[in-house]
Amino acid sequence: MGLLHAVLALALLTPPSLAVAPSGPWDAFNIAPAAKTLWPTAVKTINGTVSSSSNLVGQSNAKKSATIHGNSWIALDFGKEVGGFITLSLTPSSPNASLSLAFSESPLFIGPISDDSAMSSQNQSYDGALKLPTPLPTGQWTMPTEKLRGGFRYLTIVATGSEAVSASNISVALSFMPHWDDLRAYTGYFYAPEEELLTRAWYAGAYTVQTNTVPLHTGRQANPFVPSAEGWLNNATLGIAGPIIVDGAKRDRAVWPGDMGIAVPTQIVSTFDLIATKNALGTMFAAINPKTGALPESGPPLSQLGSDTYHSHTLIGLYTYVLHTGDLDFLRTVWDNYTLAVGYLNGRVDTTGLLNVGGTRDWARVGQGGHNVEANAIYNRVLQTASSLATILNLTSLSTAWSANVTAHQATYNTLLYVPSVGLFKDNNTDTTIYPEDGNSFAILYNLTMNNTQVQSVSEGLTKNWNNLGPVAPELPGTIAPFIAGFELQAHFLAGQDARALDLMRRTWGFMLNTPSSVQSTLLEGFLANGSISYRSDHGYTFDAAYTSHSHGWSSGATSALSFYVLGLTITSPGGATFRVEPQPGNLTTVEGGYEVNGGWFGVKWNISGKEMTVDVESPGNSTGVVLLPPGFGVGTGVVVDGKAVRKEVVQMVESKGNSKMQVVVGGGKHVVVARKG
Ligand SMILES: *[C@@H]1O[C@H](CO)[C@@H](O)[C@H](O)[C@H]1NC(C)=O
Ligand SMILES: *[C@@H]1O[C@H](CO)[C@@H](O)[C@H](O)[C@H]1NC(C)=O
Ligand SMILES: *[C@@H]1O[C@H](CO)[C@@H](O)[C@H](O)[C@H]1NC(C)=O
Ligand SMILES: *[C@@H]1O[C@H](CO)[C@@H](O)[C@H](O)[C@H]1NC(C)=O
Ligand SMILES: *[C@@H]1O[C@H](CO)[C@@H](O)[C@H](O)[C@H]1NC(C)=O
Ligand SMILES: *[C@@H]1O[C@H](CO)[C@@H](O)[C@H](O)[C@H]1NC(C)=O
Ligand SMILES: *[C@@H]1O[C@H](CO)[C@@H](O)[C@H](O)[C@H]1NC(C)=O
Ligand SMILES: *[C@@H]1O[C@H](CO)[C@@H](O)[C@H](O)[C@H]1NC(C)=O
Ligand SMILES: *[C@@H]1O[C@H](CO)[C@@H](O)[C@H](O)[C@H]1NC(C)=O
Ligand SMILES: *[C@@H]1O[C@H](CO)[C@@H](O)[C@H](O)[C@H]1NC(C)=O
Ligand SMILES: *[C@@H]1O[C@H](CO)[C@@H](O)[C@H](O)[C@H]1NC(C)=O
Ligand SMILES: *[C@@H]1O[C@H](CO)[C@@H](O)[C@H](O)[C@H]1NC(C)=O
Repeated sequence: MGLLHAVLALALLTPPSLAVAPSGPWDAFNIAPAAKTLWPTAVKTINGTVSSSSNLVGQSNAKKSATIHGNSWIALDFGKEVGGFITLSLTPSSPNASLSLAFSESPLFIGPISDDSAMSSQNQSYDGALKLPTPLPTGQWTMPTEKLRGGFRYLTIVATGSEAVSASNISVALSFMPHWDDLRAYTGYFYAPEEELLTRAWYAGAYTVQTNTVPLHTGRQANPFVPSAEGWLNNATLGIAGPIIVDGAKRDRAVWPGDMGIAVPTQIVSTFDLIATKNALGTMFAAINPKTGALPESGPPLSQLGSDTYHSHTLIGLYTYVLHTGDLDFLRTVWDNYTLAVGYLNGRVDTTGLLNVGGTRDWARVGQGGHNVEANAIYNRVLQTASSLATILNLTSLSTAWSANVTAHQATYNTLLYVPSVGLFKDNNTDTTIYPEDGNSFAILYNLTMNNTQVQSVSEGLTKNWNNLGPVAPELPGTIAPFIAGFELQAHFLAGQDARALDLMRRTWGFMLNTPSSVQSTLLEGFLANGSISYRSDHGYTFDAAYTSHSHGWSSGATSALSFYVLGLTITSPGGATFRVEPQPGNLTTVEGGYEVNGGWFGVKWNISGKEMTVDVESPGNSTGVVLLPPGFGVGTGVVVDGKAVRKEVVQMVESKGNSKMQVVVGGGKHVVVARKG
């Protein structure tokens, strides 16, 4: 073997090293732990008598123990959301001593029994506590694998009898992101130095999705559900391969393609850990109904059926995956099942020209069914992305046919669902007076709107649902749904309403990050209009506030919105061959960030100083892009790129996001674009 061959062979054996985002002040906002084993950071609560309790904080040695007296308990704080297996060392005072462990995400449910994950129950006591074997082991003990607790911040150790137990060296071995050694080695970053909340929200979303990226055999047992007396079991198989992305750390711990519509863009801009997404998408396509072409709503073991919207999210998710990876092999592998699934939706279009919803399950909204406005917006996006994927595969006539359906369906959607007198879309083509948050957000996001006047009307109309904490969804009364708010954020940015979108982010993400009722690290599943942690109480969750998940990737919409819209960086063709930079500053004057796509680094820094804006752009040498300046910049004053006034051929006015903007073409590499406001 010659030297060159030896070098090549070595290169092939070494796994591709992912470039890591540059370091800087933003690293202080990265809440992913530096180690995979963590110790409690504080004692939260003591009930009864616990002596030398502070010995349980930090990495103590086995000799420095605390004694939990009979019928007493101590709650320890890990400082942030974690998930995994507890190990501790024990010295029972008597063979009769007994001990149990309880877990909670929210401080509201700290106590001798866990918050709920196996099932919801009105008594808020379904999961109970994990009893250690009796007689109690002496020395080190680790939780059984199937008793994995996927999400918690607080651990309660309970001496359940009258006998005392000495305990020491309590730690958690993290179970999420098993394939990553360094959980902080992000491939992207974001920094808005003027407003901590925005940077915090970005990193909170990123960490939330990391906690939702799990080993294959760690799903919640749901087939059948575990009886209350047996607590919980997290040893179900989640799909065709792992690691795999699930909806929540504590629960449901299953693949949910709708949730991925928000969680995967978060993953793209922060960790680019798309292997977990590929495994989840592959799981859904493998489970298609070969007769009808219907895809399941969720992955195994739940394998919930009957949701046209989640079916559609799988199809859109394939496009998102291919756009960012350029993985045409995977596209070809699933193509037959993909086209069958597109056909399922086309077959549901009736004589009205709209899709008549077959599977009415959805994200928890009520009133799904018939010619629903949300389902039809998502269907239209399926057709758009199907046409794009067919183009990528050179299937020209199929692409054209699908794209013709886009336009026809968009026209019918407006005729049958838009109510000009209200300036919003109604829930379906009955005489309903529900103007839902989801359908109206998706109508803008997926370009179902016909003109900018309408876009502005819908964006403005959506604010009528807002209270101080965010949008109260008309389609899930009394509830703020951060999942849908993540799509609404994008709708306002697309309407060119940057300040409005940031206002929404401050309300909803500000609440989730700061409320003392949650974990102040990862993002909760949802909440009620008054901020109470009782999401879906009367809509499926049996009035069990302890069942709410506090680490749900579907609530991380701020993360990708900050990267894609505020920073303004998006990938526009497969694998990053082309990109766009379109900053939407709102009232900010300086932002920087970037992310790696498919092995190439894309970075942006922009700054507005008085009437001058500077945009630094960095991209791989084999890419080309466009920079669109905020309204007014460069108009009549010209644009300077790399110190030279640019030629007319590379700069032009374009209509984008509700505004006329100056657009400049840039090649790969590093460029500096400077423009003034006339
Ligand atoms: C101790 O915990 C029990 C429940 O285990 C509760 O009823 C009691 O109020 C707690 N006492 C204090 C002082 O917190
Ligand atoms: C354990 O409990 C049993 C039953 O109450 C009692 O007979 C026995 O003496 C106890 N043993 C110790 C060591 O306390
Ligand atoms: C709570 O309710 C469940 C049924 O939802 C029941 O199986 C369980 O025993 C109850 N737990 C307690 C502590 O009462
Ligand atoms: C999960 O754990 C339970 C309890 O130990 C066991 O009975 C069951 O077989 C396990 N299931 C799988 C799929 O490993
Ligand atoms: C496509 O669907 C069939 C069921 O009709 C399934 O057996 C097959 O594994 C699926 N193919 C892929 C690549 O998922
Ligand atoms: C139409 O929307 C309303 C309001 O959400 C809902 O009550 C009704 O059930 C829907 N109609 C159908 C056919 O699903
Ligand atoms: C599509 O056709 C072009 C031009 O012939 C070719 O370069 C490209 O590789 C084809 N793409 C695929 C996915 O086959
Ligand atoms: C276009 O939509 C019609 C129903 O409106 C459907 O019959 C046809 O199959 C669709 N065409 C394609 C290429 O999907
Ligand atoms: C914009 O489109 C909506 C929906 O089709 C229509 O009602 C409205 O008249 C249009 N407005 C303008 C200014 O074109
Ligand atoms: C959005 O829809 C309008 C009206 O049909 C169309 O002119 C425009 O090209 C569409 N935009 C995109 C990005 O597809
Ligand atoms: C650009 O080049 C990089 C490095 O060689 C490669 O990883 C990437 O796939 C290329 N991108 C495109 C879109 O060809
Ligand atoms: C932008 O507006 C928000 C809300 O009014 C405010 O809190 C923040 O300080 C402002 N930021 C800047 C840089 O002016």
